[in-house]
This record gives sequence, structure tokens and C-alpha cells, in this order.
Amino acid sequence: MWTSDEAYDRFMGRFSRKLAPVFADFAGIERDMRVLDVGAGTGALTAELVRRDVASAAIEPSPQFVAALRRRFPAVDVREGAAEELPWRDDSFDVALAQLVVSFMRDAPAGVREMLRVARSVAVCMWDIEGMEMLSAIKRTREALGDDPGEDAMYRTRAEIGQLLGEGAAIDLLEVDEDYGDFEDFWNAVAGGAGPAGVWVSSLDDEQRAVARAELFRQLGEPDGPFTLTGRAWAAKLTRA
Ligand SMILES: C[S@@+](CC[C@H](N)C(=O)[O-])C[C@H]1O[C@@H](n2cnc3c(N)ncnc32)[C@H](O)[C@@H]1O
Repeated sequence: MWTSDEAYDRFMGRFSRKLAPVFADFAGIERDMRVLDVGAGTGALTAELVRRDVASAAIEPSPQFVAALRRRFPAVDVREGAAEELPWRDDSFDVALAQLVVSFMRDAPAGVREMLRVARSVAVCMWDIEGMEMLSAIKRTREALGDDPGEDAMYRTRAEIGQLLGEGAAIDLLEVDEDYGDFEDFWNAVAGGAGPAGVWVSSLDDEQRAVARAELFRQLGEPDGPFTLTGRAWAAKLTRA
């Protein structure tokens, strides 16, 4: 689903880079903490942790992203693997973070249990179903064209993300804005092939693609020139006793 790191970066990385400092603040990340980044992807959150001088380790299942992370962050202990089976001993970290990852885990409750085993505190976040304006515009476009975007992924509501961490979790709605030069800039990011939206656009022939482009333009309110989209993400954190 995750094609190239550049395509991911143009599509989602521009939002996740902005989300990273807001999520790190929410998680209470402070200097000298040992922090694990789970599902690090192309390193949007890892970069923020390195900037704060706290990035101890990162784990990611995609070999292509692992190679990019190792090149970019030579001082971070980067492992290839999944949240459900973390290769660290109990209490290896102060905090384990998963930014925009739990919906993609094979077994998110098991992933969170593992995170709580290796770290005393865990924080996770996922885009809200409607509040992530880019994803909701794409979803409305697919629905308007009679295409079934499939079931909404899990953990995109306050209730679901709170339930995942369980009793005692603190929950907040984080918000970031991203600017686009014009609609062409936006369309190129969506059509670049990253994530489920990119897979969908790649499956269309030229004619269907032109219809999809026009509908997406309409769904965004036909922006003339630069425009801004807001991304809202539910975040939850829990510290074990
Ligand atoms: C939307 S990306 C988020 C990447 C990064 N955390 C960010 O904020 O940009 C989701 C990432 O989760 C990874 N992932 C999928 N299943 C996973 C699992 N079971 N454990 C850990 N990471 C997983 C994917 O490979 C992908 O890199």
C-alpha cells in the first residue's frame, strides 16, 4: 500500500511532519527520555524526536522505509519488524509512540500491549474520519463516483481510540494545517500513488481519472489558487502504574 517514500511524503508526509511536534507535545516528550517510534514510516515523527534529542529507537515493517530511516538517522536504532512483536526487553523505554499506525496494524490491541510492555507510557494517534479534510474529500469523491472506498479504518473516532488504550487514557483532538499552491499541486500529491487513495487513482483509466479529478475539485469547493486543508487527529495516551 505504501509505494515510494517520495510519493508518501508528497501525499501524507506533509501532514504527518506537521503533526509530529503536536503529537510529541501531547505525549509529554521531554529531553533525556528514551523514546521508541513504532511504525516510523519515512521518519516524520523520528525527525522530530531527533530534533528533541530523544530518539532512541524506531521500528517499521517495510524494508524500503527501514533502509531510508537508517540512511537518514544513523544514530537511531532502527529495526525491521511490527508492533505486535517488539524486539526489546520490558521497560526499555520511557515512552512508545505510534503516529498514524494503529489502523494499519494486523492486531492493534496486541501492538499496544507490546508497546506498554517495552515502555511505561504509550501514545497513539490517528486522523479523525471527517476531520482530516484531505482524506474526507477523497472519500466523498469516491462515493460520488459510485466507487466503494471500503469500510472506514478502525480507530478514527474518539471512542475507538480511547477504547484501544483502555481505562485511564487521556484523549485529545490534535490539529494541523497544510497549504497547497493550487489544485494541481493537490491533485499531483493524491495521484502520486501513495496509500489507498493513490492505489485507487492508479486503477482508473484516463477518462475515469479526468472525472475523478473534476469531482475532487468540486468536493474541495473549486479552489482558485492557493488553499489550506486542516488535518485533525485523535490522540490517546496511557501511563501504566
Ligand atoms: C501512515 S504510515 C505512518 C508513518 C509515520 N509514523 C508517520 O507519521 O509518517 C503507517 C506506517 O505503519 C506501518 N505499519 C503497518 N503495520 C504495522 C505494524 N503492524 N507495526 C508497526 N508498523 C506498521 C506502515 O508500514 C507505515 O509505515
